[in-house]
Amino acid sequence: MSLSKLSLALLRLLEPDTTPPQLTHCPSIGDVTLPSGQTRVCISIGQPTYKDDRSKTVRVIQNGNIPPGGCFPEGDYVISYIALDDAGNRNDQCQVRFSVKGIHCSPGPPIVEHGYKETCTPRTPSEDILGTNCTYRCLRGFGVDNSTSRSIVCTQTGDQQAEWMGNVTCKKISCPDVESPPHGGYSCTDGTRYQSVCKLDCDVGFAPSTQRHSMVCQADRQWSTEAALCTDVDPPKFVNCPDDVIAYAERNDDHVTVTWPPLQARDNSGEEPIIVQVDGPPNGSVLSTDGRMYRVLYTAMDNQDNQNNCSFNVIPQVITLTQHI
Ligand SMILES: *[C@@H]1O[C@H](CO)[C@@H](O)[C@H](O)[C@H]1NC(C)=O
Ligand SMILES: *[C@@H]1O[C@H](CO)[C@@H](O)[C@H](O)[C@H]1NC(C)=O
Ligand SMILES: *[C@@H]1O[C@H](CO)[C@@H](O)[C@H](O)[C@H]1NC(C)=O
Ligand SMILES: *[C@@H]1O[C@H](CO)[C@@H](O)[C@H](O)[C@H]1NC(C)=O
Ligand SMILES: *[C@@H]1O[C@H](CO)[C@@H](O)[C@H](O)[C@H]1NC(C)=O
Repeated sequence: MSLSKLSLALLRLLEPDTTPPQLTHCPSIGDVTLPSGQTRVCISIGQPTYKDDRSKTVRVIQNGNIPPGGCFPEGDYVISYIALDDAGNRNDQCQVRFSVKGIHCSPGPPIVEHGYKETCTPRTPSEDILGTNCTYRCLRGFGVDNSTSRSIVCTQTGDQQAEWMGNVTCKKISCPDVESPPHGGYSCTDGTRYQSVCKLDCDVGFAPSTQRHSMVCQADRQWSTEAALCTDVDPPKFVNCPDDVIAYAERNDDHVTVTWPPLQARDNSGEEPIIVQVDGPPNGSVLSTDGRMYRVLYTAMDNQDNQNNCSFNVIPQVITLTQHI
């Protein structure tokens, strides 16, 4: 090396360094799509590289928010780098731009008739990103039947498309079947389904056994009251209640045996009523013909204690011959 060349190099070293570091590699990241069910994607960006003519080291300052762990939620990002050499010359050419995109189900979680959304996972404000699983419950009085699930999932259907898949159906719950009692029938506004009102109508001559002859199917799948019965309210009827019984004594006799036929009664229940004599002389009594009159009273009673009376007079008589003069 000649002296002049050496002195030139020395002179250059003494000259101030005005050349910034030179960018040799700036990382590049394409757009990133959120994986299904994830709200963030973790990206390793790497570092830009520089070379410098004079400085041995180049200091690199990173600008822009990198979230913890390098996991980015949906959004547009710019990360810029400033490189400084020892003399403070700067290079800010390296900028990393990228966006994180999610695939969405639009509109958000479907509305289920007679039901409501319980939770969606993952939890996001819009509850609509790919992979979101929303579970539903039914309103009071409604339930999912065995065949349908309770969740609806935002599922990928195309390159950048997703739709809600699944079917939650809330149906009215049912109460047990209603059996109509003898001599009556229940009629219901909506079968055995929730809030159906069933009313007991009884045949003529019968009435519901309790005041509460209507019942409602409740949300607990039970009827509001126990089923009522139709009870007999019509008394039995005598079919052969006699008119007054007049018994004639034999001539010269002042007593007479009084008889009347057995009494019969019928009841609307179809059951045989109980017939008892409650007043008056018994059948076959020997009564005197002194002009007195005897009252006979029978009562017929059905098994619901409905009663009817049959009463008649028994009149012993003397045959008086009309004498023609
Ligand atoms: C959605 O969540 C429910 C309840 O956690 C679960 O039973 C169901 O399997 C999930 N569905 C999918 C497709 O992951
Ligand atoms: C629904 O499931 C319950 C219990 O798993 C079962 O007892 C019932 O019979 C099922 N009903 C129908 C209609 O499959
Ligand atoms: C959902 O289920 C109901 C009853 O099972 C059915 O009527 C309806 O068509 C279903 N809807 C879809 C989108 O599968
Ligand atoms: C009364 O007695 C007569 C004669 O014994 C008989 O024929 C009749 O059936 C009896 N009537 C009643 C109500 O028992
Ligand atoms: C039947 O007679 C009895 C005794 O006289 C009386 O107490 C009752 O009220 C009567 N019943 C009817 C239904 O007339």
